[in-house]
Order: sequence, then structure tokens, then C-alpha cells
Amino acid sequence: MQLDLSGRTALVTGSTQGIGYSIAQGLARAGARVAINGRTAERAEEAVRQIRQDVPGAEVITAAADVTTEDGTAGLLEALPQVDVLVNNLGIFGAQPAMEITDDDWRRYFEVNVLAGLRLTRAYLPGMVERGWGRIQYIASDSAVVIPAEMIHYGMSKTALLAASRGFAKEAAGTGVTVNSVIAGPTHTGGVEKFVYEMVDSSLPWDQAQRQFMREHRPQSLLQRLIEPEEIANMVVYLASPLASATTGAAVRVDGGYVDSIVP
Ligand SMILES: NC(=O)c1ccc[n+]([C@@H]2O[C@H](COP(=O)([O-])OP(=O)(O)OC[C@H]3O[C@@H](n4cnc5c(N)ncnc54)[C@H](OP(=O)(O)O)[C@@H]3O)[C@@H](O)[C@H]2O)c1
Repeated sequence: MQLDLSGRTALVTGSTQGIGYSIAQGLARAGARVAINGRTAERAEEAVRQIRQDVPGAEVITAAADVTTEDGTAGLLEALPQVDVLVNNLGIFGAQPAMEITDDDWRRYFEVNVLAGLRLTRAYLPGMVERGWGRIQYIASDSAVVIPAEMIHYGMSKTALLAASRGFAKEAAGTGVTVNSVIAGPTHTGGVEKFVYEMVDSSLPWDQAQRQFMREHRPQSLLQRLIEPEEIANMVVYLASPLASATTGAAVRVDGGYVDSIVP
């Protein structure tokens, strides 16, 4: 399969590191012009520099903005009024006992993990519809389906993304614009690696450490190792490509079989 996104502009929110960075890199490799987003210009510039080094000829630009605020989003839209591919990747997570999640915490998780993406969808979808082509994706999580007892607020926000993407896919029906969510499973990012070493013997080499972690703490994973960010990116780049034209309104899993379901 040739995933060719040349001539398309893509925005990936929260792409200075982690899964977002790998998605941006994958889209650039497929020929898209990619806007890197994070809260500061310095971090965005560093990611741009890194991608240019890894992907010779990559067309990458910075789009630093705090997309969780109306002002930040307005600034971003001024700098980047039109995109063909929008990947709503930005998301925060953290453990908190259920009864200690305050109103402010619930609001914050909704505003960062859900509303930021909804606002950008509202801004970019009409242009995509007008041009007759577009791709919108939300990076959800296994926690959208298997709600973790220690992260109900996070699970709630990811379930909301599944609902929103299905709904916006209906809004875009028949237009050439697809809207999907990707259910990412436990992934090997910097934050997760630190977490793994807090849970298992910190002297173990990484491969053994992650396998012990998965065996003891994530036994339902069929992969039995963490997912690499590039493996999430592969699905996102495919869904962004012209080849995925018949997939819309879907929640596509890259969860290593974590969600125990035969329904995709
Ligand atoms: N890691 C996992 O195991 C896992 C599993 C399933 C789903 N997911 C989902 O995948 C997505 C990415 O997760 P990750 O672990 O790769 O994230 P991460 O490593 O924590 O990276 C977060 C990114 O978001 C940016 N960011 C934070 N606040 C921002 C704001 N207000 N405005 C703009 N950018 C902001 C950060 O950039 P700056 O610091 O430069 O601002 C950074 O690039 C999230 O939606 C997460 O829920 C992750």
C-alpha cells in the first residue's frame, strides 16, 4: 500500500512528544505538510528539527498554541486557517480515587481531552466539507471502553470522544470527509516507561520490565508488551490516507487486544 498524503496539510495536537510526535512523523513520511502543536514554540521547534532530521525532505511547521483555551485556539486558527487532516491527539491522564475527583477535575478533563478537539472540529470541518475531502480523528483509549476504577474522569473523557466522532461522522455524511476515533492501548511513551519502572524491579532491562508489568498488571493484553507509538501512528496515517475512504464513524482499535471484545 502506498500511503500518499502529498498536497495535504495536517495538524496533530500535542505532537511535541509521545504518540502525537510519532503520528506527526508518520504523516510527514507519507508526504503531508504537518503542523506540530504544543504549548511552547521551543518544544514545537525542537520536534520540527527532529522530524526534519529523521525524515529527509519532510515539510513540517510549528503551530504552538494552548488549544485548551479559546484564545489559544483562535491564535492557532489565524496561523493555520485550513487543514485537510486533523488529529485530535492531545490528552492528559492521571490516577485519582473516584470519590476525590472534584468538579474542577471533571471540568478540566472534559475541557482538555474533549472540548479542545470539538472546538477544532467545529473550526476545520466546514472547510473540509466545502473542499469535498478531509480526515478528522480522535485518539481515544482502551479506557473509553474498560473504564479504569482509578481514572473514571479519564475514561469518561475518552468515551465522550467515541460519541463525538460518531456524531460528527454523521454530520459529514456523504461529503468525502471521514471522522473516526482510534482506541489506543497501553503505549510505550516516556510517562508510561517511568510508571512501569515504579511497578516492577527497576534494575530489569526494558524488555523484561515491560513484559513483567504486562503479565502482572495488564494480563488482559493479548500483545503482552506495550505498544510502540509508531504502531498507533501506522493506523492513524492509514485512516488519514485516501485509501481509508470507506472507514468513517468507526472506533478502530490498536489496543493489542486489550479490550476483550469481538466487536471492532
Ligand atoms: N500513553 C498511553 O499509554 C496512551 C494509551 C492510550 C491512549 N493515549 C492517548 O494518546 C494521546 C497522547 O498520549 P501521550 O502519552 O503520547 O501524551 P504525552 O506524552 O503526555 O504528550 C502530551 C502532548 O500534549 C502536549 N500538550 C499538553 N497540554 C497541551 C495544551 N494545553 N495544548 C497543546 N498541547 C498540549 C504536550 O506538549 P508540550 O508539553 O510541548 O505542551 C505533548 O506534546 C492522549 O490523548 C492519550 O490519552 C495514550
